[in-house]
Amino acid sequence: MSTPNPSTPAPHPSASGGATTATADATEAVVARGVERVFTGAKGAEVTALTGIELTVHDGEFVSLIGPSGCGKSTLLRLIADLDEPTAGEIRVFGKTSRQARIDQSYGIAFQQAGLLPWRTVAANIELPLQLHGADASTRRARVAELLELVGLADFAKHYPDQLSGGMQQRVAIARSLAEQPRLLLMDEPFGALDEMTRERMQTELLKIRAETGAAVVFVTHSIPEAVYLSDRVVVMSPRPGRITDEIDVRLGGAAERGEDLREDAAFFAGVTAVREALHGPEATPAAGAARGVDVR
Ligand SMILES: Nc1ncnc2c1ncn2[C@@H]1O[C@H](COP(=O)(O)OP(=O)(O)OP(=O)(O)O)[C@@H](O)[C@H]1O
Ligand SMILES: [Mg+2]
Repeated sequence: MSTPNPSTPAPHPSASGGATTATADATEAVVARGVERVFTGAKGAEVTALTGIELTVHDGEFVSLIGPSGCGKSTLLRLIADLDEPTAGEIRVFGKTSRQARIDQSYGIAFQQAGLLPWRTVAANIELPLQLHGADASTRRARVAELLELVGLADFAKHYPDQLSGGMQQRVAIARSLAEQPRLLLMDEPFGALDEMTRERMQTELLKIRAETGAAVVFVTHSIPEAVYLSDRVVVMSPRPGRITDEIDVRLGGAAERGEDLREDAAFFAGVTAVREALHGPEATPAAGAARGVDVR
């Protein structure tokens, strides 16, 4: 499926949710068509948090949502996760309604706050989704050990969240979101509260996790370099009303090939420039000319 054009919402033959839609979209991680979310305030004033959202996230693709505060990034993620409902349009997750996808645990969620249960150990927090879905004790133990290894916290299994740093707590939350091996991860500024060094380490960690699991990711961030370093595609949004204004293909290679040295690479800087231009316009980027003609869009 081609990159959706925000200005021309494609008419869909079965917007009412017929079987053809489910079949056609089943191979895509997320499909949003004509999605709108209008909030009504206390005094009846309406806020159009999102309008005309056309977005397809392919299976295994890493897509970042970037844009100024209030442009509807969290709202869009919450709609995909079925934590909220659109006022118009429809969302499919692996061809299912977002409600069904939530029931089927088709995705894992990690938000800005780690959201760990303070009375459970690190291991018990990570195993929670497995426990809720009735996995037996030995399966849970094995999976938790694997995940602790993956996020580098094998020595902290018996610790409690308040004995960990913010970055470690966030890694626990990420491990928990991976517990059921979701093919889709929804992440809302998961590294927002971390210092720069931890943040870069976590980004590299996330790329590694993604290379190993092949999961699709929808990732909300305010950081242009973070979006470029992690993503296959950066979706640029703009507020009042919240909408998609641009999409930038980042061609820096697969997750497995993105090492730390990529941060110094010309292609990386060109990607950063392309996203910055999309956000602020070309005149805002002094070195904009240098990026033209580079294969980042
Ligand atoms: N529950 C709600 N009730 C009313 N208005 C809301 C609600 N949730 C969000 N909004 C409004 O919708 C718009 C988009 O909010 P949203 O939280 O999605 O923005 P965001 O892009 O995630 O911003 P940030 O970068 O600051 O997290 C804002 O104008 C916000 O005030
Ligand atoms: Mg937000």
